[in-house]
Amino acid sequence: MALNSFQTSGNSPGDRDARCHVGLLGFGTVGAVLARRLTGADPVPPLVLTHIYDRRARDKRARESAPLNNLTWVEHFDDLLASDTDVIVEALSAGEPAVDYVRAALLAGKSVVTASRQVMAHHGPALLTLAERQGRQLRYEAAAGGAMPIVRALGDGLAGDRVLKIDAILNGTTNAVLTRMESDGCTMEEAIADACARGYAEADPSIDLDGTDAAAKLSILCALAFGLRVRPDAIDTRSSKGVSIDDLRRARLRGGVIRQVAHAAFARPKGVLTAWVAPIFVPDASPLARAYGPQNAAVVTCQHAGEMSMAGQGAGGDAIAVAMIADLRAIARDRAAIVPAPVLVEPHEINGFSEQTFAEAV
Ligand code: HSE
Repeated sequence: MALNSFQTSGNSPGDRDARCHVGLLGFGTVGAVLARRLTGADPVPPLVLTHIYDRRARDKRARESAPLNNLTWVEHFDDLLASDTDVIVEALSAGEPAVDYVRAALLAGKSVVTASRQVMAHHGPALLTLAERQGRQLRYEAAAGGAMPIVRALGDGLAGDRVLKIDAILNGTTNAVLTRMESDGCTMEEAIADACARGYAEADPSIDLDGTDAAAKLSILCALAFGLRVRPDAIDTRSSKGVSIDDLRRARLRGGVIRQVAHAAFARPKGVLTAWVAPIFVPDASPLARAYGPQNAAVVTCQHAGEMSMAGQGAGGDAIAVAMIADLRAIARDRAAIVPAPVLVEPHEINGFSEQTFAEAV
């Protein structure tokens, strides 16, 4: 039975059972920001961070001060599974077996919050089914859009409409790179180095620039918006690495900018999905043109309510931590909620980038 968010455990805020014990999986860029927020001067009741797992827990703990270094730090994932944590936050670095850890946490009876678009794009449906079966929750607002709450918008806010089309900027790094080149006239290499230094980029920034990261996020949004199972590698993806300062200047003269846009439109009667990620000309009048630095933005076109747009910080520890804390609070508010796993179908056909969809997109 799915419970609504007004149904709570009925405990008073001071009860141990009203507190939600959180275990953190990974103390990297995102994990560190999240840990500091949960233990800082402005705590987020009823969330209580109790455990931190990291492969290098000993070294990292030694560099921290109270209250962070007083928490329980573990170097073995099994110790986190055996702890009394209610929720595990997955904030692992690339190269760690995030999907295995998420699955193991759910099997151990924990709810899970993840920021991993690769985990959700490739394994989301199976993991959400497992979570439902276990009577636990798997939440992933941070996996697409950073602090821009597009997962909730598509999953809940727009559930009363029929989404026809999404045009979005889903990669903060590429947006930061293109807008930095535009404003400072610097080279792409310099702009990428800056995005890496600010903690926006993946360990391999090609994943950002080539569109792989945005394609995974778009695949997650296709499931939410259209009920479609779309493999990220089935999405036509064009790299932004070839965009030059001259291209950006020419776009300016035409009255616009160049942005890495992720586009998905679903023609329901025929079951045809058009989906691509590409650097394209975006006219100044589009809300997407107003996304600067690591911002993400989205324009969602619906059958009944028309166009809805949103924007927000898409990359960086602070943005991701905001989305993760929102998920943690949703779980803490109603720990007994059972979220039904989505029933997804495959599109009959997937079309890629074309001049026509390019024009329609903007
Ligand atoms: N590298 C990603 C980005 C991080 O730049 O959008 C947030 O998902």
